Amino acid sequence: MNVLFIGDIVGSVGRAAVKRVLPALKSKYNPHIIIANGENAAHGRGITASIAKEFFEWGIHGITMGNHTWDNKDIFEWIDEEPRLVRPANFPEGAPGQGMAFIKANGKQLAIINLQGRTFLPPIDCPFRMADELTEQAAEKTKHILVDFHAEATSEKIAMGWHLDGRASIVVGTHTHVQTNDERILPEGTAFLTDVGMCGPRDGVLGMERNAVLHRFMTQLPTRFVVDEGDWHFHAVSVQLDDSTGKAKKIEKIRLTEDEWLMLQ
Ligand SMILES: [Fe+2]
Ligand SMILES: [Fe+2]
Repeated sequence: MNVLFIGDIVGSVGRAAVKRVLPALKSKYNPHIIIANGENAAHGRGITASIAKEFFEWGIHGITMGNHTWDNKDIFEWIDEEPRLVRPANFPEGAPGQGMAFIKANGKQLAIINLQGRTFLPPIDCPFRMADELTEQAAEKTKHILVDFHAEATSEKIAMGWHLDGRASIVVGTHTHVQTNDERILPEGTAFLTDVGMCGPRDGVLGMERNAVLHRFMTQLPTRFVVDEGDWHFHAVSVQLDDSTGKAKKIEKIRLTEDEWLMLQ
């Protein structure tokens, strides 16, 4: 089974980038299942039902979220009715939505689990214990399990990779919007990448317009951030899994800038 996972899609620039490159990536990597992190899809803040619908129309089969899950109030209307979207499973009990889903497409099945870190992020339930619980539950149905660990600290994400080695097929990090250069297959067969990166404006700060970000850093005043415009970059990861064991055979980072992309066309 081939899985394509796309890093945090940021605003309209990110959405346009994904729409543009996805057909070519489908022919190059032949993914059976495509998952994307959508926590910043609506102007950088959360996701709407119409954006999620658009993602599904483009061929994305499942959506993961993160600390921006509730930023767009629209989501409260539909999250409980959408089985293809997961929000961090370790949000406190009583939060709407689900933290794990079973995605079926092209004759394959993949469990997707979303977790959120606690280092430099709100002190929610323990992601490691939740990972134990959910991978055990998922393993009753499938050997193919993807975990999107949405976390700030590289250490917490690397620790999760080791924690789940051999129990999840893929453990990838999201949230920092910066792709790391450490993709590998861990000894027990888990494909790991500390952070997949983002899809969205390249010349801002993590997708946000840079002057506003600089202003906040330099004055410490509250400043409203807006999604930047201009050229995009696109970050994703492609993983090949062994159908019988669920273990990873190959992991490959994907990193494209708009100008590189145009040159390839
Ligand atoms: Fe993000
Ligand atoms: Fe985030």
